[in-house]
Amino acid sequence: MEFSTKQLGPEKQTGGCVIVGVYENGKFTDAAKALDKACGHALTALVTRGDLSGKASSTLLLQQLSGSAAERVLLVGLGKHGALDSKTALEALRAALRAALATPASDATLYCTDWEVAGRDAAWLGAQAVLAAADVSYRSDSLKSKPAEPAKLTHLTLATGGKVSKKLETAIAQAAATAQGVGLAKTLGNLPGNVCTPTYLAEQALALGKSHGLKVQVLEQADMEKLGMGSFLSVARGSVQPPKLISLEYHGGDKKQKPVVLVGKGITFDTGGISLKPGAEMDEMKYDMCGAASVLGTFQAVAAMKLPINLVGIIPTCENMPSGTATKPGDIVTSMSGQTIEILNTDAEGRLILCDALTYAAKFKPDCVVDIATLTGACVIALGHVVSGLLGNDDELAAELLAAGEQSWDRAWRMPLYEDYQTLLDSNFADMQNIGGRAGGTITAACFLARFTKDYRWAHLDIAGTAWKSGKEKGGTGRPVGLLTQFLINRAG
Ligand code: BES
Ligand code: MN
Ligand code: ZN
Repeated sequence: MEFSTKQLGPEKQTGGCVIVGVYENGKFTDAAKALDKACGHALTALVTRGDLSGKASSTLLLQQLSGSAAERVLLVGLGKHGALDSKTALEALRAALRAALATPASDATLYCTDWEVAGRDAAWLGAQAVLAAADVSYRSDSLKSKPAEPAKLTHLTLATGGKVSKKLETAIAQAAATAQGVGLAKTLGNLPGNVCTPTYLAEQALALGKSHGLKVQVLEQADMEKLGMGSFLSVARGSVQPPKLISLEYHGGDKKQKPVVLVGKGITFDTGGISLKPGAEMDEMKYDMCGAASVLGTFQAVAAMKLPINLVGIIPTCENMPSGTATKPGDIVTSMSGQTIEILNTDAEGRLILCDALTYAAKFKPDCVVDIATLTGACVIALGHVVSGLLGNDDELAAELLAAGEQSWDRAWRMPLYEDYQTLLDSNFADMQNIGGRAGGTITAACFLARFTKDYRWAHLDIAGTAWKSGKEKGGTGRPVGLLTQFLINRAG
């Protein structure tokens, strides 16, 4: 979808569909007021007759309204005036865009910057409209023999009766770039394990590098053996797919500026290994590379908007499979850091690949490191599918990430990383074991990673509950590309 901005009264706007917001009890947004006036108070009449309630997320489509230059006018309800919060506004945006998508219109003009949302400005509304439009029009049917008809709606104009500010312009351009990154992360997540292998992810990284002038390096098994990545390689042992360690470098900032390093878990399929997972919904473990996908998506977004920052991405990627060569429970391996690990459960593999990638990250002399991983089922139990889990060793960095999540509405929630939990990882035979028991599973997983991140500022995002949706709406969400991109935009200043 293409996006643009425009300054024009809604009544004068031509094209397929003009969208304006209305509150309950006949209270109108500025755009709805202007339209009502130009149309001989046709909207007021609809309210009087009871056809236009303004109930949040309700929609009403009007054809060839006399006084409007557009083919259609779509009214979207915003609920009680003065009570519009972020969640309600975003739901209304999605409802409106879905309704516009259901019409034959190929273009739509949305007036949403006049919606009065507590704590949000016009630029936020414009950006969220762009992200919502990309989200609701997303299709994942590249592997169907007959792809569904592509959405007819291909152009969305964010319009305002007043002046288009520089801030709004920038926010919309950035949101369009972010939407591309979110789309890439969704698509990679949705691809099945027999297509999206570690080799495939490496190819995608190289292609991304080529189109955006990034430095991309792919380390092979032999390279990783030389580096002593015994923990990472222990996970790959059971698979015939060769593991890869992908690194990407984007230099948009001052040469002397230390980079932000993003590390993404790239398990392209997680069977659990010898500690085999139960069968139900095991297909969803194709999404166990969504951390990696979010790193690639964030690079796509950052490169497209040419942010003046330095960014490094590291993606350890392999399959977790059971076989005669697979790691067995009780096996002890030596990580790149030199610390030894007793692998009590081969299904706790994410931390085993991440720990070596986190040790490797130090070579980039990072300002800070953020890892992103579908790490624990326990995180889904703790936080559900609304927020991602956030843990880390630096309060300032954690606060930055939480704020970026609130801003982008790709929210995270912090959990404690107290030393008290560390003893749960004590082993009789090695420096540590790879599981800490059922209690506090998300925290003990992060405690494990914390043993490899002592030399820099670090945060960990557990996206097990947020990276994809199950059931009828099964599909990647592209999260937390929105959060990460906003975090980097904020850092770029
Ligand atoms: N990829 C899974 C985590 C996961 C499970 C994400 C379900 C989303 C939904 C991870 O590799 C895993 O299997 N973790 C184990 C850890 C346990 C063995 C300590 C888990 O959460 O059960
Ligand atoms: Mn696992
Ligand atoms: Zn996993």
